[in-house]
Amino acid sequence: MKSEIAKYIEEIRAARIEEFKDRAAGVEAFRVRFLGRKGIMNELFEQFKALPAEQKKEMGQALNQLKLAAQAKVEEWKNFVEQAPELNDTHDLTLPADFLQQGSRHVLSVTMNEIVDIFARIGFTVEESVEIEDDWHLFSALNFPHDHPARDMQDTFFVEKTEGRQEVALRTHTSSVQVRVMENRKPPIRIIAPGRVFRNEAISARAHCIFHQVEALYVDRKVTFADLKQTLLYFAKEMFGPDTQIRLRPSYFPFTEPSAEMDISCNICGGKGCNICKGTGWLEILGCGMVDPNVLEACGIDSKEYTGFALGMGVERMAMLKYQVRDLRLYFENDLRFLHQFDNIV
Ligand code: DAH
Repeated sequence: MKSEIAKYIEEIRAARIEEFKDRAAGVEAFRVRFLGRKGIMNELFEQFKALPAEQKKEMGQALNQLKLAAQAKVEEWKNFVEQAPELNDTHDLTLPADFLQQGSRHVLSVTMNEIVDIFARIGFTVEESVEIEDDWHLFSALNFPHDHPARDMQDTFFVEKTEGRQEVALRTHTSSVQVRVMENRKPPIRIIAPGRVFRNEAISARAHCIFHQVEALYVDRKVTFADLKQTLLYFAKEMFGPDTQIRLRPSYFPFTEPSAEMDISCNICGGKGCNICKGTGWLEILGCGMVDPNVLEACGIDSKEYTGFALGMGVERMAMLKYQVRDLRLYFENDLRFLHQFDNIV
């Protein structure tokens, strides 16, 4: 009996609460095993009763020691469970910690930053402006005729359309920033204006009511179409790789004269023709032109002294071409499976 008691005392001394998966339940089971009605203590006590009188003193002391040890352990553990209930869960604390899910920049932000960077390297500074714009900055100062379809309800989200007052709308393009800058500053002006724009369009794979544009404007003495072309070629090569070719097609915008649209050689097939470029070898990427003298004058800049070029592009389209995104809606749905594909492009 003596060795049995010694064995139990040793067991109690070595027992560790961390070994229980559920700590509260573990402590209770331990208590019942030693101190419960049919527990070890009571069983030993029964044996004790039958001992010859001369052994009782020594065994009594040993038994008492065992009981105190068991009670002390249960007390200690109960306090521990009460004070740190969060530790009383079924987690294995020896497992490695979960990795924190790390976010990454949205592909549109990355693309926009890249465009801005390319222009910043040749001296363009970033200009930001309001998203709710008046008719003057959106259309009139930019030489839009009064009956131009872009002013139509079908294209423009009007915020305020009060008789006799200037109409106010969500900006339909970042060209409005050109006007704000030219009104407030003397040339030389060399700015890039990234931002959000809004059009009243049905949402589909190829159109959205919210998208992003980057506008560039350069006004100074003797700015020529050759400067525009060289800037475009530089931009295309930086953005899509050194082998990229560009081509300019005559076009029309109210605020530029002459106007052009720029295509780049298809970056997927290298110009041979594929389904992305619809077999033509070329991809249309932006609109541009020489700032119309009417626009310069409307903004208080002498069109006899100064000339300028402007260009504007859609960020969604740039990202589509660069990263082969097939559906515009993906940019706005925030599906992590889509977003995580761009974790490494920053
Ligand atoms: N504002 C035009 C659009 O939203 C894009 C554009 C075309 C901007 C030609 C320009 C430009 O500055 O010169 O479609």
